[in-house]
Formats: sequence, C-alpha cells, structure tokens
Amino acid sequence: MDVLAPINPASLFSAKGLVVVITGGGSGLGLAIASALYQNGAAKIYLLGRRQNVLDDAIKKLESSPSAPKSSSSVLSAISCDVASLDSVSAAVKQIQEETGYVDVLFNNAGVLGPLNGPDLYRTESIEHLRDTMLRDYDGWGQAMAINTQSVVGVSAAFLPLLEAANTRRGWAAGRVRGGPGDPRVTGKGTPREQDKAVLSELGHDEDDDRLAHIITVASVASFMRYSTAGLAYNASKAAAAQLGKILSSILAEWGIRSNVICPGPYPSEMTSHIEGRYGTDQVPQGRMGNFNDISGLALFLVGKGGAYINGTVQLTDGGRAGVFPATY
Ligand SMILES: NC(=O)c1ccc[n+]([C@@H]2O[C@H](COP(=O)([O-])OP(=O)(O)OC[C@H]3O[C@@H](n4cnc5c(N)ncnc54)[C@H](OP(=O)(O)O)[C@@H]3O)[C@@H](O)[C@H]2O)c1
Repeated sequence: MDVLAPINPASLFSAKGLVVVITGGGSGLGLAIASALYQNGAAKIYLLGRRQNVLDDAIKKLESSPSAPKSSSSVLSAISCDVASLDSVSAAVKQIQEETGYVDVLFNNAGVLGPLNGPDLYRTESIEHLRDTMLRDYDGWGQAMAINTQSVVGVSAAFLPLLEAANTRRGWAAGRVRGGPGDPRVTGKGTPREQDKAVLSELGHDEDDDRLAHIITVASVASFMRYSTAGLAYNASKAAAAQLGKILSSILAEWGIRSNVICPGPYPSEMTSHIEGRYGTDQVPQGRMGNFNDISGLALFLVGKGGAYINGTVQLTDGGRAGVFPATY
C-alpha cells in the first residue's frame, strides 16, 4: 500500500460515468440519492416508481436546479414501474437493456409503511384492545411484504444480467469464478476475478478503479429496533430486507456483484411528512432528522471508488437511534 500516493476526495466519492437505477427515485430518499449522484457525474440515472407524474416532476426539479451539472439533459430518465410486479420490472429492465445495456448500481429503495399499528401497541389498556391493535389492517401485510421485502429479490434478480454487463464493460471476466482451492489461512493462492485494466482509461476511469457492480438495498433502522414506531409489518419487512441484502452479497460473491444495505433513521420524505423532526436525545441522539448531507455522503461513498471494498455490510445512518432503543444490530 503506497501511503504517499495522491488522494483526491473528488475521485473517491464520485458517481462519474455510472449508470444507476433507483426504485422509488421520485421522492424522499430516492430523490436525494438521485440528486447527489446527478450532481457528481453519473452518466445515466433511471428513476423508477408507480406514479409517472411524480417521476417527471422530480426530473424537472433536478434539471432546473442551479446545482444541476452543465449539459446533463439526458442523464435523468423516468420509468413507470411497480416493483411488486415482475412483469413491470421486466419491462423496465428491457427498456434499460435497449437504451444503455448495463447498470453499475441498482438501488432497491422503493418502500411503503404498511399497516400502522406502531406506538398504539404500547397504549392499549386491555388484552382485547392489544389483540385488535396487533390485527389492525392485517390484510395490508401482503403489500408491505411484497414491496419492502419480496421486491428486493425480484428486482435484484431481474437486473443481474445488466449488472454483469457493467462488470464486463469495465474489463472484468464474466460468469462465475469459483474461489478455490483456497486455504483460508493462506493468502495469494486463491482464484480472484481477473480484470483487464486497459479498458478503464478508454472509459475515463482511473486505472486503480476496481469497483464491481453493486446492489444497494434501503432497509431501515426499524430492521433492528424492537420498538415498533410505524408498525409490525414495517419492522418485519425491513428486517427481512436487510437480511436479504446480506444474503445477496454471499450468493453473488462468485458472480462479481456486490450487495450492501443502507438503514436510515428518520429522514424527511412523503413517508414521514407527518413527523416534525425534532428529537430528544432518547430518540435520536443527533437531535434531528437526517438531511441531504447525511444521505449524499453515504451514497457517494458507497458508489464511489472509495467504497470499492465495501461488500455485505449494513450502513446505519440514524443519528444514533439504534443505540437508544432496544435493538439488535
Ligand atoms: N424517510 C425515512 O425516515 C426512512 C427511514 C428508514 C427507511 N426508509 C426507507 O427509505 C425508502 C424510501 O422511502 P422515503 O422515506 O423516501 O419515502 P417516500 O418519499 O414515500 O418514497 C417511497 C418511494 O417508493 C416508491 N414506491 C412505493 N411503492 C412502490 C412500488 N410498488 N413500485 C415502485 N415504487 C414504489 C414511491 O413512489 P410511487 O408511490 O409513485 O410508486 C416513492 O417514490 C423506503 O424503502 C423506506 O422504507 C425511509
């Protein structure tokens, strides 16, 4: 490791040249991530969501902002897509395949709150009241699980060929690379994936850029909390989403695709529009909701060259919230 090599934060935390897909990219955290990557060199960002008008408005807003990069009018694209429908996801994949042919980073960000029985569970005065609160909007679990959890598998799987195409474009060998016959106590004898670095300069990337394609799943601090602030279905579906993000990293290890999980605490969005955003130290030690710096810094770190070695992790961005509730993390 050459500790005297020049270090440039602008290249470590950059989205330069990346093709990115963000589900739920028309509002809240998805839009914030889109804005951060748009302002920092992404070549193409596809925003997916069910409401076309929300996606179109988001793109207009980003493109007309003073912070928009110059000559970037074709970077942002909207695709109407329901992540709970495989047909709808396949249609989005087909469109991106035809237009771009590869995806460097997929954000599984779409989500819903589901049945809202959260804090009421702790306010019940009789066992019957607790029973009824636990069963509130019971049929709503299906949609919450389909969007928050099942889609992590459905959308990730559907995009795998395009993620692999991003790797081969960057000079990586394609297909499955079995690591053995390694001895876990010995280094230097296994079988790594090979990369032809010659193509990197043609693509405008640094020659030490060995980023692999990347799936980033947005779960929640609720994945880990034993206190239910939104509802039991939200906790359960987000715990499962975080777990799937970790499992994907293991499944995809020999396929050259990374998977990481972002677990936000409270951030302003459509989902949290009813929340005032000022917190006591027993709720969010930082005292506030997450802001644009917080999510942008994390997103740029994960997609940038500085995040190349991050794989299979859960990144909490919660102002310390998991530490002040009963939580497993
Ligand atoms: N804000 C927070 O405090 C917070 C905290 C922890 C985790 N999160 C997670 O962060 C992610 C983003 O949420 P947000 O807070 O930014 O809320 P948001 O503004 O409500 O964004 C959710 C997005 O998901 C999209 N979506 C929902 N169902 C979809 C479906 N079936 N297919 C495609 N898109 C769908 C929505 O668009 P359409 O309705 O148009 O489809 C919307 O743009 C979610 O996974 C959420 O659980 C948020």
